[in-house]
Amino acid sequence: MLQKECFLKLLLLVVSLVVAASGADKFSRQDFPPGFVFGAGTSAYQVEGAANEDGRTPSIMDTWAHSDSVITSGANGDIACDQYHKYKEDVQLMAEMGLDAYRFSISWSRLIPNGRGPVNPKGLQYYNNLINELVSDGIEPHVTLHHFDLPQALEDEYGGWISQNIVKDFVEYADVCYRMFGDRVKYWTTFNEANIFSMAGYDLGFLPPTRCSSPFGYFNCTRGDSSLEPYLAAHNILLSHASATRLYRKKYQNIQKGYVGLNLLSFHSVPATNKTEDVIAAQRTNDFFMGWFVEPLVHGDYPEVMKKNAGSRLPSFTALESQRVKGSFDFFGVNFYIATYVKDNSEGLNIEPRDYKADMAVEWQFTQGNASSTNRLLPSFEIPLTPWGLQGVLELFKQNYGNPPVFIHENGQRTQRNTTLEDWPRIQCLQEHISVLLDTVRNGSNVKGYFTWSLLDVFELLDGFRSGYGLYYVDLDDPELRRYPKLSAKWYSRFLKGGGITPDGGIELSSNWSSLSSAQVMK
Ligand SMILES: *[C@@H]1O[C@H](CO)[C@@H](O)[C@H](O)[C@H]1NC(C)=O
Ligand SMILES: *[C@@H]1O[C@H](CO)[C@@H](O)[C@H](O)[C@H]1NC(C)=O
Ligand SMILES: *[C@@H]1O[C@H](CO)[C@@H](O)[C@H](O)[C@H]1NC(C)=O
Ligand SMILES: *[C@@H]1O[C@H](CO)[C@@H](O)[C@H](O)[C@H]1NC(C)=O
Ligand SMILES: *[C@@H]1O[C@H](CO)[C@@H](O)[C@H](O)[C@H]1NC(C)=O
Ligand SMILES: *[C@@H]1O[C@H](CO)[C@@H](O)[C@H](O)[C@H]1NC(C)=O
Repeated sequence: MLQKECFLKLLLLVVSLVVAASGADKFSRQDFPPGFVFGAGTSAYQVEGAANEDGRTPSIMDTWAHSDSVITSGANGDIACDQYHKYKEDVQLMAEMGLDAYRFSISWSRLIPNGRGPVNPKGLQYYNNLINELVSDGIEPHVTLHHFDLPQALEDEYGGWISQNIVKDFVEYADVCYRMFGDRVKYWTTFNEANIFSMAGYDLGFLPPTRCSSPFGYFNCTRGDSSLEPYLAAHNILLSHASATRLYRKKYQNIQKGYVGLNLLSFHSVPATNKTEDVIAAQRTNDFFMGWFVEPLVHGDYPEVMKKNAGSRLPSFTALESQRVKGSFDFFGVNFYIATYVKDNSEGLNIEPRDYKADMAVEWQFTQGNASSTNRLLPSFEIPLTPWGLQGVLELFKQNYGNPPVFIHENGQRTQRNTTLEDWPRIQCLQEHISVLLDTVRNGSNVKGYFTWSLLDVFELLDGFRSGYGLYYVDLDDPELRRYPKLSAKWYSRFLKGGGITPDGGIELSSNWSSLSSAQVMK
């Protein structure tokens, strides 16, 4: 206990020092351009619960969470935060906090239980209710169509994303969403973390649909092909995205006046040393990780280094496909948590067979010069803050990809769940990243908004309920699943309502907020 108090005091000190030390940290939301959006996010399977209710069928996320998944330690999203039943209360929390926007995803298998064909009226009703509730409180819905949760029915029928059959079904699903919700929803993201989904789902095999092949993969997969399938899935995702965007433009955009984009996770790679081969390795990592999707959308083809290293395992675009993929976006969504240091591993290119990761031919590290953390999924609990990496990612988009509109769709801090509501590390994370974001806006980056992950402590992909990123804690031991604001919710709210983040009276984390008792509800 004593230790914990000291720890908090230390962090408080760090936060106030950071704030006091530098004039650059003085900012408020009025410093951002008019219309700049601040929000928070979740995703369907991670927050909704009601997994088997009202006609919903399993997605590949359900199947994964119910398998002997080592990383979620037996937890699943059957109940999660029960937002399915508590959406009104959650929208109230958002409104009180002052969010401009809420980023959430639609569960395809709730809306269209067989993956294609009849729409489930109860699913339709739920998303209409949620969207209406948001709109009536002045909160803009930003909707994702696929957040790692393909209907299991389509996975079983033809292999999901590794089959080109998926394109038609995805476009039909998107059509239903545009038609039913597009009068109120203006921001559509086709795929969340298309790059991580392809890599973790089909090469390393630790996320759904957990496909990989020996000797690749973090666990022993029962099916898959790590050499081929990551590229195949990504290719079909790109074709699906392009077709869904094309449909929107032809049939809806003139009337609905909305936008379609694609979301990627960025690790922002920097060379671990100044050696030429490591500098090239960092560039190659950005090409494999970001360029994999961004280059086709911006230039109509994959990066040269991917074609070279993956050879014929990388599908190619026909002339017509290339033409249709190119330009098929109105914005990019970027999730950013941490920068990585990379080292060249080109010797790996002499080995056969190779997977996507071997083709990339680098070693990753989360902290500079620490080999023991190489290639780990995540550092334990708190993520080391590298806010300059956010600037790096936005510079990459500006300098290499024509400075397209970008939303930061996710950024946040991971803390051990249900230890304390005084989440200073999360406040520090928000403050440092929003500050850097302002610098990048001032330096000409075309960034339009910032969403923190996550609104609530949700079912987390990398460890179930052991950690949380939420502004709100959800008490899972309480049958009511009551929500409690963490200090970060107060901080964000103050910022959103125009409070200045300045040394004298800005953050003001000290006086009133720190005296909050742990159980005090925001009212
Ligand atoms: C994977 O399979 C190998 C060989 O059968 C076995 O030694 C290893 O323990 C398995 N690993 C896991 C994580 O199940
Ligand atoms: C790379 O070189 C620069 C300039 O000489 C130096 O400041 C920096 O510390 C070097 N970085 C590494 C990782 O050695
Ligand atoms: C390297 O990582 C290990 C394990 O994550 C940690 O215990 C150690 O303190 C780190 N060392 C440095 C120099 O960062
Ligand atoms: C965290 O939650 C679990 C169950 O949700 C509970 O058993 C545990 O006691 C809690 N831990 C703390 C430190 O409150
Ligand atoms: C500001 O933008 C210019 C032009 O893109 C770039 O060269 C420079 O590195 C940027 N500054 C920072 C701090 O990112
Ligand atoms: C602290 O809270 C009280 C009551 O909510 C308020 O009157 C007072 O101005 C606050 N003090 C500061 C420094 O914000």
